Amino acid sequence: MKIASAVPCLLFAGAALAAQPALYHDGWIDLNKNGTEDAFEDPAQPIPARVADLLGRMTIDEKIGQLLMVEMRSNSPSALASGLAKGQIGSLIISSEGFESPAMRNRLQHIAVEQSRLGVPLVVGFDSIHGFRTLFPIPLAQSCSWEPSLLERTQTISARETAAAGIDWAFSPMVDMARDPRWGRIAEGFGEDPWLGSVYSAASVRGLQGTNVAASDRVLACLKHYVGYGAAEGGRDYNTTEISESTLRNFYLPQFKAGVQAGAWTVMSAFNELSGVPASANRHTLTGILRGEWNFPGLVVSDWGAVTQLIPQGMAGDAAGAARLALTAGVDMEMVTSTYLDTLKDQVAQGKVPEAAIEEAARRILTVKFAKGLFEHPYVDETLCQTAYLRPDARALAREAASKSCVLLKNQSNTLPISPQTKAIALIGPMADDGGQLFGCWAGLAHFEDGISLAAALRAKLSPQARLTVARGCALVERADATVAPEPFQQAVDCAKTADLVILALGEPSDWSGENKARSDITLPGRQLELFQAVAAVGKPVIAVIFNGRPLALGPVHETAAALLEAWHPGVEGANGVADALFGDVAPAGRLTTSFPRSVGQVPVHYNHLNTGRPTYGEYVDGPRDPLFPFGFGLTYTTFEYGPVRLSSPALRRNGALTATVRLKNSGARSGEEVVQLYIQALGASEAGPRPVRELKGFQKVHLDAGESRDVVFNLNGNELGFYDVRGDWLVEPGRFRLWLTKDAASGTPADFEITR
Ligand code: BGC
Repeated sequence: MKIASAVPCLLFAGAALAAQPALYHDGWIDLNKNGTEDAFEDPAQPIPARVADLLGRMTIDEKIGQLLMVEMRSNSPSALASGLAKGQIGSLIISSEGFESPAMRNRLQHIAVEQSRLGVPLVVGFDSIHGFRTLFPIPLAQSCSWEPSLLERTQTISARETAAAGIDWAFSPMVDMARDPRWGRIAEGFGEDPWLGSVYSAASVRGLQGTNVAASDRVLACLKHYVGYGAAEGGRDYNTTEISESTLRNFYLPQFKAGVQAGAWTVMSAFNELSGVPASANRHTLTGILRGEWNFPGLVVSDWGAVTQLIPQGMAGDAAGAARLALTAGVDMEMVTSTYLDTLKDQVAQGKVPEAAIEEAARRILTVKFAKGLFEHPYVDETLCQTAYLRPDARALAREAASKSCVLLKNQSNTLPISPQTKAIALIGPMADDGGQLFGCWAGLAHFEDGISLAAALRAKLSPQARLTVARGCALVERADATVAPEPFQQAVDCAKTADLVILALGEPSDWSGENKARSDITLPGRQLELFQAVAAVGKPVIAVIFNGRPLALGPVHETAAALLEAWHPGVEGANGVADALFGDVAPAGRLTTSFPRSVGQVPVHYNHLNTGRPTYGEYVDGPRDPLFPFGFGLTYTTFEYGPVRLSSPALRRNGALTATVRLKNSGARSGEEVVQLYIQALGASEAGPRPVRELKGFQKVHLDAGESRDVVFNLNGNELGFYDVRGDWLVEPGRFRLWLTKDAASGTPADFEITR
């Protein structure tokens, strides 16, 4: 939670800008007093040499200054100016409420570069989570596209807009695996599967950083929250986690490793306690694994206040202890609190903290600043932001992403797509006419008027003869026990009576997911279910469209509605994208990346669980144990038939190859896309413990015309079929395996094979 004081930002318009004549500035390059260039300023030198040269010139105060990230608005302008001029601030974080303009960034940067002794530039960060001004669907929604290149493209636009605003660093992607829909931050991640999450993690990093992170339209990526944050007990944010080493290695770490391998320059340490040691003081994960095993060259920034929070977490007794524990565990930069600044110098003098630890942290931070090209280009073009936001290509992509993120969960009697001949449509529900509620959590710098409502998007689709009537029916989050006048319900029912078809637009408010937004109940909030039932009782075909940030328990809606479309919080073009899907201009082809429980009591429910010794037992006395919709599930406007799985050989060696093929037929009347999913199960014989009942190891999104058939071929290497042991070694164990090529995690007939030595 951010607690920012509301200091007005009158910054640096006047006196503070007075340049100090310590250095002579010649274009982008500072010349020293002898008129020559210092080695650290020479772009021709390799980065490690530049960093070493610069570090050699720095005082301990200046090194510690680099470790500090401050938030604009919680510091007075004069304190900021003075800190910058003294070289005591390495980085700035801007929150959306405090954002002004790239001109502001340049003003601050001028102080850092021109008034501090060595002119080390600032690096400026912001939470661009699913876009900056052009908001794309929430990450969980985008993951349902099963199209990593789509995420790469949305992140590329996000980087372009973020950079144009004068920001160098996006605190994205969030790669926390989550299985608990109560946890509000499930919206920010890529679902429950570590393999798919890893593919998205890498795609996201590529999208933000590009091939040259120093380019003016790219930003540094930040893999967060390292690590285990998504396992918060009870789904309550910031809560303790207890994760075995094997589960950590196989479910929570792979997404981070993939992001590091894709070149992410930064990682954020998490708030949670991880199996007894807070993640932001966890030497095992921060140093042992991240640096030791993966050779991560970049910087680790703490999450917001996560260093001082070591005190209430019971890990540190005071600020000095918190600083010492975090720094020596491997947290290089402290976000928004100042225990490093306040205590590290004294702790070095007292022999409690090795100076080398400070030097090492500063080295990593400077390395990232050089990599971002900040020494060559500390300032940004202030005019770019006038034309950079919401460009037509960005809006078009946001619309494409919104329709590709939709998951069709039910479609009885081909209710969808809506026929253009439909004369009278009733659009009912609290999401019907509220474009801003479609944005989702972490709405960047989006303005309410950037969005479009579902009512407006549908109207744009209808022929002049058709009629659309709109009724809200009830509020989005009315308390169930509140006294509600019956009139709005009645109005909605009347509206349904006059229509041929009803679209019920229901869901959760945008700010009911994201940080610190846990729910103990995952049904539709307020009186929406009652509204649904009252409207459905009219007897017209009902299409339910749900806008939400987490899996919801949709059982009653699923049972009654003729069609059910999961639209998530789809962003600024969300309504248009959903309208495209409803009218069939785009056939929804999303597949769930998170299981949908039947009720909150089933949580956690996920496909890749272990078997018990009694696999057929363990039902609830009051209901089934399988989810309402499994991982991978989703329909489209046509149907597909799968032939049997054919393997090129019944056995392969550990580093040998195998081909798995399935004949896929579009058996419906329209062209469409199927996501063919490859799952395996390793059957027994493991010294490192049993493996899950299924694990995703591949997928292909296949487009087939009506009636068309095609062989879908997967080339597997034995090496891909392993898992991590508790030391982090990748094991491929000989033994029997089962393999499915199928449409979701709960279907299909497997073929068996063996891995031999
Ligand atoms: C969140 C992070 C975010 C940071 C900076 C924290 O409260 O947990 O995800 O990047 O704030 O805004």
